[in-house]
Parts: sequence; C-alpha cells; structure tokens
Amino acid sequence: MPYEVQGVVARGKGAAVTLETVVVPDPGPGEAVVNVQACGVCHTDLHYREGGINDDFPFLLGHEAAGVVEAVGEGVTEVEPGDYVILNWRAVCGQCRACLRGRPWYCFNTHNATQKMTLADGTVLSPALGIGAFLEKTLVAAGQCTKVNPEARPAVAGLLGCGVMAGLGAAINTGGVTRGDSVAVIGCGGVGDAAIAGAHLAGATTIIAVDVDDRKLEWARGFGATHTVNSRETDPVEAIRELTGGFGADVVIEAVGRPETYKQAFYARDLAGTVVLVGVPTPEMTLELPLLDVFGRGGALKSSWYGDCLPSRDFPMLIDLYLQGRLDLDKFVTETIGLDQVEEAFGKMHRGEVLRSVVVL
Ligand SMILES: NC(=O)c1ccc[n+]([C@@H]2O[C@H](COP(=O)([O-])OP(=O)(O)OC[C@H]3O[C@@H](n4cnc5c(N)ncnc54)[C@H](O)[C@@H]3O)[C@@H](O)[C@H]2O)c1
Ligand SMILES: [Zn+2]
Ligand SMILES: [Zn+2]
Repeated sequence: MPYEVQGVVARGKGAAVTLETVVVPDPGPGEAVVNVQACGVCHTDLHYREGGINDDFPFLLGHEAAGVVEAVGEGVTEVEPGDYVILNWRAVCGQCRACLRGRPWYCFNTHNATQKMTLADGTVLSPALGIGAFLEKTLVAAGQCTKVNPEARPAVAGLLGCGVMAGLGAAINTGGVTRGDSVAVIGCGGVGDAAIAGAHLAGATTIIAVDVDDRKLEWARGFGATHTVNSRETDPVEAIRELTGGFGADVVIEAVGRPETYKQAFYARDLAGTVVLVGVPTPEMTLELPLLDVFGRGGALKSSWYGDCLPSRDFPMLIDLYLQGRLDLDKFVTETIGLDQVEEAFGKMHRGEVLRSVVVL
C-alpha cells in the first residue's frame, strides 16, 4: 500500500512553499522508504524554489536528511528496515566512466529511485537533488542510504547529507587543505563554516573568514577561523594578502556562488594556489577574467560538487569524529522547526539569521 504523508512542495517560481499530501509508493527493486527524522534547510532548496536550478516544478524540497529505513524493495542488500541512515545524493553506479577510472566521487550516473512520488491528484513531483526529504517518509534508491552510528542525533547527522559535507569536502577533498596551509573562505553560511571547520580539522594554521555580515563572522570564529574580514567594509583581497605575508592564501574557498566573490577568490590566493568554487551560481551569471592572469597565477581552479565526497567513506568517518568531540556539528543547528515552517526558514536564511534551520519530524 502506498503511503500518504505530508511534504513541502514548491509549486511555481518564487511562490511560497506549501504543505501537501504526497503519495509515496512502496519500495520497488533497488529502492528504500525511509522515515525521515530530520532535514536541514539548505540554500539549494531556495535555489530550486526560485527556479535557479531548472523549471521542473512542482519540486518536493528537502535533501539534507537522516532517518530510519522503514522498508526495502526486492534485491536490496545495502540496508534493512531499522537501519539509521543519512541520505545522500551520490549513490554511485560503479559502471560509468568516472567510476571505472576509480573516481567514484565524480560518478556521472548516480542512482535515484525509479518510481515517482506524486501529489494526491497524480501530479509527478521532482524531488530536490533526487531526494525530497521535507516529507515524513521518502522514497530513494537504496544506495542513497548510508548507515552511520545511531548515537549521532538526526538533526546533526542529516546535515552531512548536503551542505556540511559540501563545505568540509571542499576544504579536505577538493582543496586538499593540509597542515600549515593558509585558507580563506568567502561566504560563511552553513557551507562556508563547514569549509572552515574542515580547514581547522586538516591542520590549516591561518583560516580567514570573509562575509558581509558581522554575525556570520562571529559564528565563523567558533568553527576555527583565526581572522575575519567584513568585505562590505574592507577589500577582502587586500586583507587576505596582508594576513598571509603579502602573498595570498594557499587555498581560497568560494561559498557564495557569485562572479564578484569568485573574482575575489581568484585574486586572493597565492601564486600556484587553489580556488575551490563550492557556491552554486545561477544560469545568467558569467565570469570575465584576463586570460593572462589565469595563466600567470598558475595553480588550480576547481569546482566542488558535494565536496567530492564518497558517502560510504566520508559519512561514517565524520560521524565518528563528531562523536569523539573532534568535529562540532551541533553548532550548525541554529534552530529546529516543524515541516510547516520551511517558508519562514527561507526568510531567516535570506536575512542571515541562521546557519541551519532543521526540520525535525
Ligand atoms: N557544491 C555543492 O555541492 C553545494 C552543496 C550545498 C550548497 N551549495 C551552495 O553553497 C552556497 C552556500 O550555501 P549555504 O547553505 O551556506 O547558504 P547561506 O545563505 O547560509 O550562506 C551564504 C553566505 O554568504 C554570505 N554572502 C552573501 N553575499 C556575499 C558576498 N558578496 N561576499 C561575502 N559573503 C557573502 C552570506 O552573508 C551568507 O553568510 C549556495 O550557493 C548553495 O547553493 C553547494
Ligand atoms: Zn558511476
Ligand atoms: Zn543542499
């Protein structure tokens, strides 16, 4: 029997999200139904609602979630009912050209559920990032469930499912931050602060947080920033150079997703340094840079999809570090809310009042 549950739906571009009855099919072959216990509100959900990702409305929002497997379909061996899991949007296929070359964190053919979740009238929903977890129960591919230690509370564990993993991985995996590095992070929301926490964990000795909001900079210190720069008041490129002996940082992580902040990142890094773009731009944005500077400054310009994570490798490891007190994930949870408060949470995110609002079910 399909389940009928409540979920948060974006019906049209820019329209306030609504709570709707969603029909969730029983899991088919290779699928699992998960009782969602918590799901963070990520900026990417807002991008979906604003039509910044694509036009496949209506969207079923929510994608940073943890919960307990309720039922599995035929042939599922990875998880079983009762398992405590974080949902991921990188269920690697094992067969695409990236996987076959031993780079599964780039997998170009990740798995999602085959069946569709719908509104009560049969309208097919597009689940955000192939998950859709502002929903009491959701249907995913079994490979989208990563088992972790159940001692980590769902509101915290779920955050590793997207933004916090993206930020940590942007520093540790994509940026390759290591002991003694100088790192600057532009944009200190949930993703940027996770990049700061990742740089701290990896042993960076100078960690410069840049934002336009003093409250965000204050929070960034709590995650390990050694210096802060309010780029509304101070030129961030000059400030970062000054704080790094006049040279620029070894790794600069852009966690806003705008051309002007990308340019700051580009010029704020040392010669042969690395820029990591983890912020997601929108389709109309373009970037213009002197090609000679691209050549002359050398180094690496990288983008970080999901922090180049491999959920099976990274989620359990990061949960262990959290439980050992070596990675403070609790600080990312500014507030817990109900399913009916997601629209309000978008407003708070927009006004910079929260790092993460987390829906708890
Ligand atoms: N690459 C990925 O896999 C991935 C995953 C999750 C989220 N994201 C993206 O990361 C970005 C950040 O997400 P978030 O959830 O942290 O968002 P957020 O809204 O919580 O944080 C954005 C931060 O940027 C700051 N900011 C805005 N304009 C700025 C400017 N001009 N200069 C400096 N700081 C500025 C804001 O004050 C805020 O603190 C978004 O674009 C989101 O879509 C990417
Ligand atoms: Zn693959
Ligand atoms: Zn996200």
